[in-house]
Amino acid sequence: MNLTEFSKSAGAAVGMNVDTITVRGGKALRGRIQMKGAKNLVTKAMVAALLGEGPSELRSVPEISDVRVVQGLLELHGVTVRREGDTLHLDPANVRTAHETSINAHAGSSRIPILFCGPLLHQLGEAFIPDLGGCHIGDRPIDFHLEVLRNFGAVVEKLPSGIRMTAPNGLHGAKIHLPYPSVGATEQVLLGAVRARGRTELTGAAVEPEILDLIAILQKMGAEIQVDTDRTIRIEGVDKLVGYSHTALFDRNETASWACAALATGGDVFLEGARQPEMTTFLNVFRKAGGAFDIQDDGIRFWHPGGDLKPVVVETDVHPGFMTDWQQPLVVALAKANGISIVHETVYEQRFGFTEALVEMGAYIQIHTDCLGSHACRFGQRNYEHSAVIAGPVELHGADITVPDLRGGFSHLVAALTATGTSRISNVGIIARGYERFVEKLETLGADFDVEG
Ligand code: EPZ
Repeated sequence: MNLTEFSKSAGAAVGMNVDTITVRGGKALRGRIQMKGAKNLVTKAMVAALLGEGPSELRSVPEISDVRVVQGLLELHGVTVRREGDTLHLDPANVRTAHETSINAHAGSSRIPILFCGPLLHQLGEAFIPDLGGCHIGDRPIDFHLEVLRNFGAVVEKLPSGIRMTAPNGLHGAKIHLPYPSVGATEQVLLGAVRARGRTELTGAAVEPEILDLIAILQKMGAEIQVDTDRTIRIEGVDKLVGYSHTALFDRNETASWACAALATGGDVFLEGARQPEMTTFLNVFRKAGGAFDIQDDGIRFWHPGGDLKPVVVETDVHPGFMTDWQQPLVVALAKANGISIVHETVYEQRFGFTEALVEMGAYIQIHTDCLGSHACRFGQRNYEHSAVIAGPVELHGADITVPDLRGGFSHLVAALTATGTSRISNVGIIARGYERFVEKLETLGADFDVEG
């Protein structure tokens, strides 16, 4: 599937029949929109439902295409998934092996299938996963995942069509160390260890709020999990887990994205459902860049208080650092800030591809292979273009842009909203992978745009 086909199918999955947006920039975004459950928790919580002996209920589930992909995969494996408003009811009573060809129909559409392995090995003794998708923002290997599964006793066989796994003797607990605190690999350990025989000790774990929320769900299901202060997670395997009932943590990435859109357009938005504790790192940077915010019980108001935006120096990192998914829309605001900003990307080696379109729109951005931050990261000395220098202020002008990936795509939308003149953005279906009803939200916030089929 090429990028345009992928974009069309991602959009269609959530009923979007448009794939191109023409934006007339220059209008400040103003208004109130709702943040729902985090894409990066909800999709994993749906997989966790496979482990329960009874049905699960997940609330605040956004209508995004990544949720549809996971729903499709669960249904192929016999799980009944029913949506009622924002709530998903998931019943794993009839879990069964799916045909490889039907699983392969989902090849390239998401990275979540790798997380099916542990639960399927527990339930069925075997698992098959297709080629993985997700955004093209670096190599995105799955070596940590496969190593984790092998540690649990899985036999991994790589086939031309995908990866097949079996667990002839069931899965057992293990001592595992992650060379880097990978979010997905930590989730792989959790989903595999909760029902493995014996104890698992994971060192070097990621502790993102979405992971802690997944742990909360697994605890509701009957799992025994302890998180220590030094990134160690200890899990005591249990024989049986039950279904859960849970309201998903709000989406931190969606929140940061719309906040930056308000800042870059000189606007004022209230993001219902956003919470302070999981956003403190972002809020610090937002304020340093010249933005204002007000924390309320039901959400956070973000606005541009007037005056110049200020340059900042930011390093992306694992939690509690500044998230890699927050830098793309921020870079647009920084292009308008008065001075030189630096963004050092330390999570993905290749996450500045989106800046090419911004440069075309008039931004002054240079990408460097050096670590332009306070510490050297894994990508220094390896010729990866992972540091950006952004000089502002510049006035962006409209352009024809093709969305390259989820977060980069949202930043292009923000750039078009701030630009003088008209921009035509194609492949916007990719944005529907992670931003619920973003076209309606743009309308609610007063953006000036047309959609094309
Ligand atoms: C999750 O990806 C998110 N995706 C990403 O969001 C997010 O950017 C990332 O975590 C970091 O917060 C989902 O939750 C679905 P990682 P994940 O494993 O789990 C390397 C978005 O736009 N690595 O923490 O895939 C990897 O290459 C997406 O919502 C290995 O080397 O990220 C990267 O450099 C984009 N081997 C680093 O670890 C492995 O086996 C962190 O990746 C696994 C990862």
